[in-house]
Amino acid sequence: MNILVTGGTGYIGSHTCVELLNSGHSVIIADNLSNSRIEVISRIKQITGRQIFFYQVDVTDEEAVNSIFSSNRIDGVIHFAGYKSVTESVIKPLEYYFNNIVSTMVLIKLCLNYKVNKFVFSSSATVYGENKVPFVEDMELLPPKNPYGHTKVINEKILTDVAKANPDFSVAILRYFNPIGAHESGLIGESPIGIPNNLMPYITQVAKGKLDKLKIYGNDYPTIDGTGVRDYIHVVDLAKGHVAALEKLKKGVNIYNLGTGKGTSVLQLVHAFEEANHIKIPYEFVARRPGDIAECYADVSRAKRELGWSAERDIIQMCKDAWRFEKNNS
Ligand code: NAD
Ligand code: UD1
Repeated sequence: MNILVTGGTGYIGSHTCVELLNSGHSVIIADNLSNSRIEVISRIKQITGRQIFFYQVDVTDEEAVNSIFSSNRIDGVIHFAGYKSVTESVIKPLEYYFNNIVSTMVLIKLCLNYKVNKFVFSSSATVYGENKVPFVEDMELLPPKNPYGHTKVINEKILTDVAKANPDFSVAILRYFNPIGAHESGLIGESPIGIPNNLMPYITQVAKGKLDKLKIYGNDYPTIDGTGVRDYIHVVDLAKGHVAALEKLKKGVNIYNLGTGKGTSVLQLVHAFEEANHIKIPYEFVARRPGDIAECYADVSRAKRELGWSAERDIIQMCKDAWRFEKNNS
């Protein structure tokens, strides 16, 4: 298939392009480089030995995206492009609503115009809110606590309504848990701008000496050791989940959790990183981060049953690969 990947130079998008190319698909990337670098294109080519097409466009710009649809035969769209910082979304809500929602509407409109019937959307476990773990796809969603989370819920709703009204339109909504790690080549990975908000990039920057020590947000949660528990998934496994979702896509709306089904606490992740890479990570406990929940992990049985996909890489592998990328880059 010929797949248009929006946000394809970003963290998850770049790994997904590699897996699509490795599975024999062709890739057209549309990205405005607002949170990624152009070098990623040559790195994807280096890893796969394949050609890719790149358009530097803003996917909220209908005219620009229309010209991609009119000059390429597109079989499906994977829509990663969007802003993803929870904290920033509280400060800049309009930018978040505009970018994350208009981009989806533009793409859906063009898909319908050009009869492109496969659409895969990047959603997030954040849509479950404080439900009881493990999170199951058909749980009632609880209202998110920030604009970022709302954009995911609204996008899911738009896609569901459009699929209902257009029986040929097939949608996969993929709810990611916590992607970490990097491609084993060390050529692509996660490079956040500024001080990282997320745990793994913070740990790797402490390991590199760029940051002093890790601040662990809370050690009084009702969890195994008092620190927050998350379902960390290797980004390459997550990328493979997209290929499976696309290849097995059925009519209508198909929602899948992409996680491992296993919870790991902050302290367990720190210790795994130390064991995997033989580097000590100094840390201190500080107050809980507002908006955080105690535990978040997936029920992954639907993806296994319907897509034949499950995550294969363990926490040690995630820590080794995240560190290899950090060491080799920036
Ligand atoms: P990322 O920031 O690395 O990648 C997003 C890419 O989209 C970037 O390359 C950016 O330049 C591009 N982009 C943003 N707005 C654009 C626009 N209007 N037009 C064109 N390009 C645009 O983020 P990521 O971690 O790869 O996340 C990808 C998707 O997955 C996002 O929708 C995010 O909300 C979602 N998601 C991510 C996580 C996570 O932990 N990383 C978890 C759940 C969901
Ligand atoms: C966060 C977002 C979530 C988003 C996801 C991916 C919030 C509240 N949630 O998820 O919506 O989908 O990122 O972008 O921001 N931690 C520390 N010290 C740190 C950083 C994190 O102790 O410096 C802890 C957190 O309290 C949490 C765990 O590590 O228990 C994971 O945090 P993080 O990587 O930020 O992911 P989430 O909070 O799960």
